[in-house]
Amino acid sequence: MQAIHNVISDLSLTEKASLVAGDKLWYTQAVKSAALPPLMMTDGPSGLRKQADSPAGENTGLGKAVTAVSYPASALTACSFDRQLLFEVGKNLGIAAHANDVGVLLGPGVNIKRSPLAGRNFEYFSEDPYLTGELGTQYVKGVQSENVGVAVKHFAANNREDQRFTNSSEIDPRTLREIYLAAFERIVKQANPASIMCSYNKLNGVLNSQNKALLTTILREEWNFQGLVMSDWGAVADHVAAIKAGLDLEMPGRGAASTAEIEAAVKAGTLDEAILDRAVQRILNLVMTYLPANSSADFYDLNQQHEFVRRAAAESMVLLKNDEAVLPLTPKDKLLIVGDLAQKPRYQGGGSSHVSEYQMATPVMAARRANAHFEFQQGYALAQTEPDDGLETKALEAAKKVDKVIVFAGYPEVKESEGFDKTDIDLPANQNHLIAQLTAVSAQVIVVLQNGSVVTMPWLDKVQGVLETYLAGEGVGEATFDVLSGKVNPSGKLAETFPVQLADNPTYLGFNKNPQTEVYREGLFVGYRYYDTKQITPLFPFGFGLSYTSFEYHNLAVQVGDDHVTVSFTIKNTGLRAGKEVAQIYVANHTSAIEKPQQELKQFIKVTLDPGQQKAVSVDLDRRAFSWYNADTAAFQVDNGSYEIKVAASSIDPKLQKTIDLQWTPVQQPLVTGETYLSDFLLRSDSQELLQQSKLKQVVESLTADKTNVAMLTNMPLRALASMGAQKQRLQRLYKLANNE
Ligand code: BGC
Repeated sequence: MQAIHNVISDLSLTEKASLVAGDKLWYTQAVKSAALPPLMMTDGPSGLRKQADSPAGENTGLGKAVTAVSYPASALTACSFDRQLLFEVGKNLGIAAHANDVGVLLGPGVNIKRSPLAGRNFEYFSEDPYLTGELGTQYVKGVQSENVGVAVKHFAANNREDQRFTNSSEIDPRTLREIYLAAFERIVKQANPASIMCSYNKLNGVLNSQNKALLTTILREEWNFQGLVMSDWGAVADHVAAIKAGLDLEMPGRGAASTAEIEAAVKAGTLDEAILDRAVQRILNLVMTYLPANSSADFYDLNQQHEFVRRAAAESMVLLKNDEAVLPLTPKDKLLIVGDLAQKPRYQGGGSSHVSEYQMATPVMAARRANAHFEFQQGYALAQTEPDDGLETKALEAAKKVDKVIVFAGYPEVKESEGFDKTDIDLPANQNHLIAQLTAVSAQVIVVLQNGSVVTMPWLDKVQGVLETYLAGEGVGEATFDVLSGKVNPSGKLAETFPVQLADNPTYLGFNKNPQTEVYREGLFVGYRYYDTKQITPLFPFGFGLSYTSFEYHNLAVQVGDDHVTVSFTIKNTGLRAGKEVAQIYVANHTSAIEKPQQELKQFIKVTLDPGQQKAVSVDLDRRAFSWYNADTAAFQVDNGSYEIKVAASSIDPKLQKTIDLQWTPVQQPLVTGETYLSDFLLRSDSQELLQQSKLKQVVESLTADKTNVAMLTNMPLRALASMGAQKQRLQRLYKLANNE
C-alpha cells in the first residue's frame, strides 16, 4: 500500500484522471512515467473470450476471440451443488486466464433468476441466494487462487435484459437484502473478490453506476468490500457523479475526452481530488496485485481443460425422468439419435460470454466414439420452428426399428441470449411436435435438453426419460454420453424451479411490461419460495434430480449452540451403483410475525457413496440462516421461538425434520401503548397482575369470559377498552406500569 501511495503522489492530475477509465475495451490505462503497465480484463464467466490482440482492445464485436475451452454455463454447474467442483471451475479458468496474460476475468455472474424469461439466466447460478452465494464464493476463490482477479457481476438487481441500460428495478428493502443482494454479500465477505461490476440498470430510480447507497454505503461501509468497482461496459452516464458515488473504473474508456472531463471537474471543484485519488488507489492496487508475471511461459494444457469441462458438465447434468430404468443405456441397445441439436449442439450462451471453443464434440460424434449402436436422423431443422414433414417421416420410420430413441431438443441461440428477454418458455413447435410423434411409435423415448433456462414439456407424460444438460460447454457430447451410458451416475439437482407453464411463475403478470420500471411485486416470493408457499405444483421442483441409484436418510439430530445449530444425519446408498446425493437443509421460520416464505434453503451437502455404504454427515447453520431483514431497524434479526429444520432431497421432498426452539436474542418487552392489542398484552406473564393494579381486571375478564367470542373481543387495541367501560386514567396507569415508567 505504501508503494501505491508513493505512486499516487508522483502522478500528475492528468495521469490520475486518465486512470479512472479503461484503455478502450479491455485494458486499464498504462502510465508511462510510473512504469505502470496496462492490465487486461476478459470475459467470463464460462471460458475466456479474449479478443485477439490488435492494438489494445480495438475489437468491438462479439466475434472471434482466442481459442479457449468453453466451460459449462453457470446454469449447469450450479446444479452440481458441489462447492469443490466450483472451486475447480474457478481454478482452471484462473489457469487459462493467467496463461493468456489476463489479469481479471469478468465473472462470475451471480444475479438471481427471477423470471424464466430473463435473457441471461444461463449465465447465472440459481433462483436461490444461498446456493448462488456459496457457489459464487468457491468460483471466486478458485480463480483468485491462480492470482487472477474476478469481477463479480452484475451489481445489482439486474434481472432483465430489455431496456437494461435504463430500466429501474423497483424493490422493497427487505426483498433487496434477502434475495438480490445476499449472494453478493456472501461472496464479498467470504471470498474477498478483486472487483465488482456494477450493472446497467437503475435501482429504485437511481442508476447503479451512480448509486452511492449501493456502491459505498452497502458495499464498502456495511460489507467492508476492499476491491474495486468497475462499470459494466457502457453503464456510466455521468462519470463524475459515478466516481463520487463509489465507482472506481469506467469501462470501456473514452480516451482523451474522458480524461479532460475528470481533470476539468477537479479544477472546477466539482470533484474532490481526494475522491479521485481513492479511485486511483484502488486501480493501482488491482493492477499491482493481478498483473500477470511471466505468465505466457505457463504450462496450459487445453486437452486437460477439455477433460475437466467434460467432467464438470457430467457431474452437473440433471436426470429429470427415468421410468422403468430406461437409462442408463446398455451396450446392446439399438438407438436412434434424433434432432438437429445432436449434430449442431447448443452448448454456450450468446453475447459476451461466447467463447471461440477449442474442441467441441457433438453428441453424434461422442456416440460414435463411445461405439454406440445407433442411427442418426435430423428430425427437425434448428433454424426453423415449423415441423418438416420429410425430416419427421424419416425419423419416425427409423424410430420403429430401434430399442430406444434419444431426442435432442432445446432453444436455438436466436431465442435465448444476452441483450434481450424471451417471450415464452416453450421449445420451438417443430421440436415439440417431433417428440410427440416419436412417442406414438416408440415406447422408449428419452429427451435430452439443451437450453439456458427452463422449458415447458408438454410431452412429459409420454416419454420415459429426460436429461437436462443446459448449456454444457464444449464437452457437451462426451458429457451427455457419459451420463446416458452410465459411465457417470447423474447427481445434479435443479438450481431453479421448472414451472408447468409460464403463467405459474410469480413474475408472470408484471415481468417486462413497462419499459421504464420493473416492479418486483412478488417480493421475497421468488422461485421455490413462491411455488412452495402458494402450493403450486411445479413441473420439477427446486433441488430435484434423479440418480441411477437410490438413497435413504436417517438419524436426524439437531443441536442448538450459542450462535449456531448443528444438523447431523446419515445418508445411505440403497442401490447397486456408486452415486452422489445432494442433501438440502431448509429452515421454516414458525416464529416471526412477518410475511415469509414457507421455507428457505440454508445449507446443502453433496455426499459420495458406494453401493450399500452409509455416511454420517453434519452441517452448521449460522445466525444468518434464521434471520430476516428488518427494514425499520435496517438490520438482520433473529427472533426467539420455533424453527423447523428439514433435511430434504428437493424443496418438496423432506426426508427428516425437527423443530427447535431458539432463544438467541435478549428479550425486549415491547412498549405497551393504546395501540397494543389486548390479545398480545395478555401473552405477558405479568398481564393479570398489571390489570389488577390498574383496576382493569374486571373489564377484561368480562371480555374474555365469553369463550366463543374471545378471539374477536381480544382482537382490539387497549385504547378501545375505553368504549367498553374502562376509564382512561386507568388505561394510562396500565401503560405506565407495564413500561416501568
Ligand atoms: C456485459 C458484461 C460483460 C461486458 C464486457 C457487457 O455487455 O453485460 O457481462 O462483461 O459486456 O464484454
